[in-house]
Amino acid sequence: MTLDHLLLEKQDKIAWVSINRPKKLNALNQAVLAELNSLFLALNEDENVRVIVLTGSGEKAFVAGADISEFAEFDAAEGEALSRQGHEKVFDLIAKTQKPVIAAINGFALGGGLELALSCHVRIASSNAKMGLPETSLGVIPGYGGTQRLPQLIGRGRATELIITGRMMNAEEALQTGLVTQVVAQEDLLATAASLAEKIMQNSPNAVAQALKAVASGYAEGVDGFSEEIKRFGACFGHPEFIEGTQAFLGKRKANF
Ligand code: COA
Repeated sequence: MTLDHLLLEKQDKIAWVSINRPKKLNALNQAVLAELNSLFLALNEDENVRVIVLTGSGEKAFVAGADISEFAEFDAAEGEALSRQGHEKVFDLIAKTQKPVIAAINGFALGGGLELALSCHVRIASSNAKMGLPETSLGVIPGYGGTQRLPQLIGRGRATELIITGRMMNAEEALQTGLVTQVVAQEDLLATAASLAEKIMQNSPNAVAQALKAVASGYAEGVDGFSEEIKRFGACFGHPEFIEGTQAFLGKRKANF
């Protein structure tokens, strides 16, 4: 796979993915979105990867949004197609990845950039990060899941206020609202992501994947999250990792997953 706009490094079962257009504040153009699609499809299948960390190149931005220069001339049908393809090929794909995806927000995460972070399973931020959905200032609305995933995370009132004012949140406010779970100095961000990944990797990959599915099912239309939890709970039994986890506990040793 050729990656021209993403950087990929795999180390100790962690895949480090950086959006790499720093001169354009890592804005998501079609080329970046196509590479994200191919890469996440591949990482999902990669047995040497257990956690994915997504970040932005440079010190200024995670991602400053969808590339405005690409859609400024679009009509309604083209706009709808842009949003639908983005949902299906990238944002839903990331949200449905069976391995935890951590967004390490290292600067501006605006519009499609915040939506990219929202499609990840966990978000941490550097203290200089600024997050928002400024689309209404451009005469459009968030089209990559922001109107749905932001209210799910921080509540409808707060999300609506952010969307219709288009204002930016700083990292402290993002922490208080639950949009991110940790805020650290920029130079410590990747090490913090690595510790989080290592903590996750002490647990059963199968159980982690089942947990991701069970949590997501509560937000899927027409799916009863509680029923899904019962099924996913049952599906863990008999799995070799369940045997290892329970035997390790009973044998007073550390499980080896
Ligand atoms: N789409 C396309 N290009 C973008 C972009 C975006 N979403 N965000 C930034 N860029 C480009 C700028 O056009 C500029 O390119 P240039 O050097 O060729 O002129 C470059 O990135 C640097 O951005 P600049 O605006 O000069 O940096 P700044 O520090 O003055 O401002 C921001 C930073 C993030 C406040 C500002 O870039 C911005 O408001 N970006 C758009 C955010 C947005 O509305 N996103 C939602 C899109 S749906």
